[in-house]
Amino acid sequence: MTMQDKQAWSGRFNEPVAELVKRYTASVEFDNRLALFDIQGSLAHAQMLAACNIISTQDLNDISRGLAQIENEIISGDFVWLLDLEDVHLNIEKRLTALVGDAGKRLHTGRSRNDQVATDVRLYLRHAIDELRGLIHALQTAIVDLASHHTHTIMPGFTHLQVAQPVSFAHHLMAYFEMLKRDAERIVDCRKRVNRLPLGAAALAGTSYPIKREYVAELLDFDGVCENSLDAVSDRDFAIEFTAAAALIMTHLSRLSEELILWMSPRFGFIDIADRFCTGSSIMPQKKNPDVPELVRGKTGRVNGHLVALLTLMKGQPLAYNKDNQEDKEPLIDTVDTLTQTLRIYADMMGGITVKQEAMRSAALQGYATATDLADYLVKKGLPFRDAHEAVALAVRFAEQRGCDLSDLKLEELQQFSLLIADDVYTVLTLEGSLASRNHIGGTAPQQVEAAIARARKYLQG
Ligand code: ARG
Repeated sequence: MTMQDKQAWSGRFNEPVAELVKRYTASVEFDNRLALFDIQGSLAHAQMLAACNIISTQDLNDISRGLAQIENEIISGDFVWLLDLEDVHLNIEKRLTALVGDAGKRLHTGRSRNDQVATDVRLYLRHAIDELRGLIHALQTAIVDLASHHTHTIMPGFTHLQVAQPVSFAHHLMAYFEMLKRDAERIVDCRKRVNRLPLGAAALAGTSYPIKREYVAELLDFDGVCENSLDAVSDRDFAIEFTAAAALIMTHLSRLSEELILWMSPRFGFIDIADRFCTGSSIMPQKKNPDVPELVRGKTGRVNGHLVALLTLMKGQPLAYNKDNQEDKEPLIDTVDTLTQTLRIYADMMGGITVKQEAMRSAALQGYATATDLADYLVKKGLPFRDAHEAVALAVRFAEQRGCDLSDLKLEELQQFSLLIADDVYTVLTLEGSLASRNHIGGTAPQQVEAAIARARKYLQG
């Protein structure tokens, strides 16, 4: 074994690691995504070491210069990643030493890869959360923009996928605005727990050097330090929590996707999705498939899987760090990538939706969507609700036999079911009357949905 082949930790070993094992244990192929955060963390660590007189100012200058060059090499794609050097940390450290000599070897003073990697992952995730917040915001904006044109566009609201009561398309869309609002709250809240500094925990018990962890936290913009060294290096609950929040975002988008797919089917024909988000069939020339929403629905399974993977990764681990934790990166990074791409494409796609108001309206007219309004009408005239429900059920059966809507029945025909029914009934049987009557916060009346949109705009500006 030459000096060149030696691993950073190989001093106590009698033989080199087996080739297969080297491949099996290496993480550089995926953890190189953490490189810029690793450099950021190393720089702060070195600054602290110098401030505490653990390394010299000259060492700090050399380290800073070397790390700056490495950063450039990574950004320009010139950096050579070596599997032999196992992971992102050792690759960078080795290059640093090649560039600046002994100062590079001093960087790891008072630090372990255990607290280093935990720091890198937290810096990476914090950055991802900040980007994702912006992307959720952009999608919410696209939803509100579309909704603002459709407070008077009436469609059937469904329960059990059966026509239930009329709602406006805007009201339906704004339900997703609310979901995304909670999603944004969740990742912002998660950020508080992500944003704690593990460095200083060293391997597991802390370090004997006179370090200042709070100073490193300040340099890296952390809200504070992890207050127990064993916990700092071993737990990945922050990553699990984030992935759970991501799985919920994907789940919400999967539900919306399912609706877009149904609405675009000719059986519904409520919307059209711009061609640039669809593909054709290689055999059926007439096909235009909603591939993007279908893939969003599919990729939700993948993110949900990552959540289960991370939970399972954690559950059997004794304190403190175990190599198991190396497996946190692929699920986490893929979750961030999938969610980022999904949100980005979704905001664009919402802007490319064409609404077919006539089809929505005629679907709302087909399913006796105003039956509840007739029951409410009878209740307001004094009939107990259960009796009103019964009377309207009979009226619906009667209309169904005639193949017409409730509003097509003559007054005398309606009066067979209750003598409380008078001429004014026709205003409640219309779709517009039904919507307008649900005039309270959270209701589908155009006035209320306009107010909801105004609140949403204010939220988006704030
Ligand atoms: N690549 C490792 C990981 O991702 C870095 C920490 C290694 N620590 C160790 N004691 N082997 O977890």
